[in-house]
Amino acid sequence: MPIAKKKTAAKNNTIKLKFDTSWSYAPAPESKSAATIKPQYDLFINGEWQKPLSKKYFDTINPAKEEKLSEVAESGPADVDKAVNAARHAYEKVWRKMPAKERAKYVFRIARMVQERARELAIIESLDGGKPIRESRDFDVPTAANHFFYYAGWADKLEYAFPNRVTEPLGVAGQIIPWNFPLLMAAWKIAPAIATGNTVVLKPAETTSLTALKLAEIIEESGLPPGVVNIITGAGETGAAIVNHPDINKIAFTGSTDVGKIIQKAIAGTGKKVTLELGGKAANIIFEDAPIDQAVEGVINGIYFNQGHVCCAGSRLYVQESVAKEVIRKLKDRIESLIVGDPLDKNTDIGAINSKQQLATIHKYLDIGKKEGAEMYQSSCALPGKGFWCRPTLFTNVAQSNRIAQEEIFGPVLAILTFRTDDEVIEKANNSPYGLSAGVWTDKGSKIFNMTKRMRAGVIWANTFNKFDPSSPFGGYKESGFGREGGLHGLSAYVNLIN
Ligand code: NAI
Ligand code: MG
Repeated sequence: MPIAKKKTAAKNNTIKLKFDTSWSYAPAPESKSAATIKPQYDLFINGEWQKPLSKKYFDTINPAKEEKLSEVAESGPADVDKAVNAARHAYEKVWRKMPAKERAKYVFRIARMVQERARELAIIESLDGGKPIRESRDFDVPTAANHFFYYAGWADKLEYAFPNRVTEPLGVAGQIIPWNFPLLMAAWKIAPAIATGNTVVLKPAETTSLTALKLAEIIEESGLPPGVVNIITGAGETGAAIVNHPDINKIAFTGSTDVGKIIQKAIAGTGKKVTLELGGKAANIIFEDAPIDQAVEGVINGIYFNQGHVCCAGSRLYVQESVAKEVIRKLKDRIESLIVGDPLDKNTDIGAINSKQQLATIHKYLDIGKKEGAEMYQSSCALPGKGFWCRPTLFTNVAQSNRIAQEEIFGPVLAILTFRTDDEVIEKANNSPYGLSAGVWTDKGSKIFNMTKRMRAGVIWANTFNKFDPSSPFGGYKESGFGREGGLHGLSAYVNLIN
């Protein structure tokens, strides 16, 4: 820029360096060719790929392009029955009798194979579900492998997990998982179940079946005895057929609170055990003494991570009044710099919304927020023409009673509220039908302990957010469900203590 022009611009205060497009990164797309997706997938039952008795298939699409990736089988009740029978047979004849140290070897082998095929799994996860490759590569897939490693380690050490007790497996577990962390949720559910001697019928969500089917290929290659893990695809009706099958001993479900309630009713009085991991509306609390920049980054990670398709997303932010202005300004600046777009691009922060239906839900809440009188702010980024997208969004001037502060949106939408005292914020944070997770940002250790003791949430992060480890239990209070997955607690959901 010539000097004279620069001066004028400075005088008019119009120099805008921060978000100049000349600073944007060149595209760095991961290669699709490292992943093999078959045009059609059958059901993985009894160690074999079987055509669905229903004879039906449905499409799975790439939500970033609205293009068909493959078609997968739709299991009808007869297919579910076949899968449950295979799991029962494997349980009675092979798996429950196998010495635990032998069982462990298979689980270790699956863990290693997930690691070896990490790149392919990450690409398929991003293609089928819309999440940024950075997340599927650096979080979903390695954490899935870690769960198999972790539970493989427990398989022959159950007498240390439950000292002086005798354990037995439950039998056949029906496992129904959602679309937000498809491979990771499959690992969370399968690893502790088979490590403790149960067999499994697992159903992925209808929009994201492909990594579970890839996992079935890995399981087939691992030589796991036929029928120990059966992976069948389909939508809600298939899930309901699993839940209602009389020969299932345990249901493990992650998904919406509505379906969780249906499941609870359906199994009442049947003796089936259940763990439910449902929705959330996590309170992320910033006190005035918090390291503000670190907290802002944590809030960004907490809500925009994975497009906000996270049950423990920090979707309610409570900021102490004295720092509210600063925090809001920094959050606005930061969301402006988030990169929204191609999930396969390694620079992308926010990928595609998982489905058209979920995008409609998010838009419904944006309208509700505006109608309720909250002030909406969105980043000014351009969105790709095709596919399902939502700009990172925040609402200020939100009241505690507003629906955007009470209900789960499951999108990149943050509701910001303010508070003055500890008592006030505890009351507000706990004033929610949910209780899955929460976050506290403060310099004072004593404050962290005081808050975490009084908050009703299953997981509370302090000066960080969305941190996971296989050894750490995860699960909620109230309408967020019950039972714990992960860690030692996750083992007890798959065993009976018989004496
Ligand atoms: P959903 O609860 O319908 O789907 C989750 C899984 O349950 C899928 O595999 C689905 O096929 C299965 N399913 C559906 N109806 C069933 C039934 N009657 N019996 C047994 N299984 C059934 O969730 P959906 O419709 O995909 O998302 C709706 C809302 O749920 C989202 O907007 C979000 O708020 C919440 N959600 C929460 C999740 C979490 O991680 N806690 C994950 C996914 C959604
Ligand atoms: Mg898909």
